[in-house]
Amino acid sequence: MSTFATEISGVEFSFKDPEAEWVAWQNRIAAYENEIESRVRLLDQELLRTPQSELTRKRLGRLRAGAIQQRETVRQLLRPFYPMDQKLFDVSLALRSRIPTKQGLLNYASNILRDWSPWSAGENSNYLELVRPLLQDRSFDRAFVPGCGAGRFAYDLHQNFNVRETLALDQNPLLVLFGKLLCEGSEIEWVDFPINPASLQSACVVETCKAPAPVRDGLRFVLGDALNATFESKWFDLVLTPWLIDVIPESFDRFARRINFHMKPDGEWVNYGPLAFSFKNPRFQHSFDEVREILLDNGFEILAWGETCDTPYLKSPHQGGSRLETLFWFHAKKISHLDSPPPHQKLAPWIEEGTLPIPALPEFAQTAENSSVFAEVCALIDGNRSIRDLALHLNQKFGLSEPSAVLALKKFLSDLLEKQ
Ligand SMILES: C[S@@+](CC[C@H](N)C(=O)[O-])C[C@H]1O[C@@H](n2cnc3c(N)ncnc32)[C@H](O)[C@@H]1O
Repeated sequence: MSTFATEISGVEFSFKDPEAEWVAWQNRIAAYENEIESRVRLLDQELLRTPQSELTRKRLGRLRAGAIQQRETVRQLLRPFYPMDQKLFDVSLALRSRIPTKQGLLNYASNILRDWSPWSAGENSNYLELVRPLLQDRSFDRAFVPGCGAGRFAYDLHQNFNVRETLALDQNPLLVLFGKLLCEGSEIEWVDFPINPASLQSACVVETCKAPAPVRDGLRFVLGDALNATFESKWFDLVLTPWLIDVIPESFDRFARRINFHMKPDGEWVNYGPLAFSFKNPRFQHSFDEVREILLDNGFEILAWGETCDTPYLKSPHQGGSRLETLFWFHAKKISHLDSPPPHQKLAPWIEEGTLPIPALPEFAQTAENSSVFAEVCALIDGNRSIRDLALHLNQKFGLSEPSAVLALKKFLSDLLEKQ
């Protein structure tokens, strides 16, 4: 019997390896549950502290109530993932669909209020006005918005342009369900905890989110992986990738080729967002000049491009400040068809298969060396020895000078405690 649903509240759960994805999302939801539980426990302890300022008590009380309300919303929206499966702790299943930690359940949750709260109009209309002169009133048959997040741009596109069908796809079930329900006309309260609150009240904000009007027919949300498509290819005559190309774990040249493959001849691709590529390898941290060159090398011509400076990002009346971003945007047209690159591999083949030789990467040798030293250090900690005692030991055994050993030990032990 399958342990995963193929559909959640009317949204297709459409991944190549749905069981692994299901377990991976259950893991992320479980991590969220644990985090909220320990936060509420900490707030309970702090609320009992005496003496306590009334203002602090009030703020802590708001945070506690907000955490519980937010958890309730998550539970309601993600009901099909509960109760958690016993496969939750099956490492091999969880690994099969490993998503970078920066893409956890709430990582882009601030987009929910940016997209749908009562004060969301400004930023969203900036994006609409950026795209309007590019698309004008031309007609499109099928638009694709991969990595649609909470769905506001897909909604605005579908409502404001001549697009017959729009496919809005994201891997995050919380964001997709939010978007889908709001587009249908629901209202949902979302609790947010601004990191830089403008006031005591703003430490915990509850906003009623809703769409300006229910969306017209033809906008479809799907839960899936933009880099491992399960949808029919060569479909789209319009692709929009706001705020996406620098957060996916795939180099831009591969992604450009992938998008090319999914498009009809003469299809158009509009992208805007930052270029904060976070690959470790500098080769893939492309500048805008390289991005445009890559487009030309991957079957596109560039119809227009530009940089829109000082665009407000996540500006909220509840935050004590906000960021300004340069939006790098391009409008490209497919002029030749390329084959699809292989599906994006989340894990190296030698991890996935288990029978291939493990490459002797310098990281492993370095870790082995550090681990043996620090394993020995940890074993020597007995409640009596000091950092100086351990440094002496490292000096005698590994020849490390005592001052260097003291510094290394201080860093290692404080880093270790910080991770707890
Ligand atoms: C920075 S957010 C941008 C969201 C939206 N495009 C917007 O403009 O607000 C990036 C989004 O891409 C999604 N995402 C990242 N990698 C993805 C993938 N491989 N498949 C589908 N969605 C992905 C994340 O879940 C997140 O919602």
